[in-house]
Amino acid sequence: MTLNRRQALALLATGFALPHGIAAAARPGPTLKEVAGKKGLRVGNAMAGGPDRFENPGYRALTARECHAVVCENATKWPVLQPRPGVFNFKAADAIFAWARKEGLKRRGHTLVWQEDRWAPPWLVQYDFGAQPGREAERILADHINTVTRHFGDDLYSWDVMNEAVDPATGGLRDSVLTRQLGGPLTQIDMCFRLARANLPRTQLVYNDYMGPEVGATKHRAGVLKLLEALKAKGTPIDALGMQSHVGPWSDLEAKGGKAPFREWRKFLDEVTAMGYQIVISEFDVSDRALPADVARRDVGVAARAKDYLDVTLDYRQVTDFFMWGMADKANWLRQQKSKTMREHGLPSRTTAFDDDLSPKPLRDALLAAFRAMPPRA
Ligand code: G3I
Repeated sequence: MTLNRRQALALLATGFALPHGIAAAARPGPTLKEVAGKKGLRVGNAMAGGPDRFENPGYRALTARECHAVVCENATKWPVLQPRPGVFNFKAADAIFAWARKEGLKRRGHTLVWQEDRWAPPWLVQYDFGAQPGREAERILADHINTVTRHFGDDLYSWDVMNEAVDPATGGLRDSVLTRQLGGPLTQIDMCFRLARANLPRTQLVYNDYMGPEVGATKHRAGVLKLLEALKAKGTPIDALGMQSHVGPWSDLEAKGGKAPFREWRKFLDEVTAMGYQIVISEFDVSDRALPADVARRDVGVAARAKDYLDVTLDYRQVTDFFMWGMADKANWLRQQKSKTMREHGLPSRTTAFDDDLSPKPLRDALLAAFRAMPPRA
């Protein structure tokens, strides 16, 4: 297979002439946090338990070296923190945050509520809310948000309060076990932010979702804008939009030869920022699906997808944070997702900036290039 023009340009731009893994290893250079930090952008990584992640000293060291901050990938989700009604378990999250504090890394939270029932704790989905279901649901929601936000307090500078409340298929708000008891999704979402704010006057409060630039996400983007407008109109205490940024594959966009659909993405970002919201890139990784199986070409394709996305997105000074959702291929959730990566061909996915042996890949160079090209933040 041959490289297309964009991939070839990306290859040249990233200096990918040396054999795989050698280039960056031989070139210590500045770290992601140093280059991004000069422009006022915070770099972070999601940390999860397991032998390839938090239990791996090399991976912990890589995170501390390249990042300003960490977020727990799973340990601060409701099913982990409150696995049974009224029973809280902060062990996994406390361990990750204690390490982060020791390393001088800032800390953020994900996510107080994940709207879809399939990500809620099973006990909540099956719960009998009794004779006064609204009151009981409010009590449960307040108990969870109060207990969690009071436990962590000001130690976390930012929280995803609500995750994925918009249905990408329709752009409407999703129903859940809580929205059905609490007067509908908008009322319930507003309630979540107010509960969080009551305990966290200084923390950045974020609505987090995965709408992207692709043509197929038109309804999703419109739905998120509608929600942000509605929350603004209600005076909901929300500071930022979290854009997950699981980048590509953009078959609809790439098939059309590139950049035109980014016009729609710019319009989306214009509208979000015009409403006064800050933006957090909260879960960055790049799908390697539909790219050549050859490792070098695949890595260049991943780097090019990232660069296309970041050149437009980081142009907005309101983007204050850039969080990777795992920063080595073996530590990224897509490695387990057969249908969403090269795993469909029986190949291990290559979706992050660092290889399985933690050596840098062309994506890391693409990130550095995007950080160098972006305007400085306030
Ligand atoms: O830890 C348990 C283990 O004890 C058990 O034996 C095993 C059996 O399935 O499951 C393990 O938990 C899994 C956990 O990851 C840790 O590996 C869960 O089943 C699995 O559902 C969970 O997946 C996470 C997923 O969210 C659901 O919480 C992924 O790691 C995580 O990357 C993913 O992250 C989400 C963001 O929160 C929101 N945006 C999308 C993103 C990707 O889906």
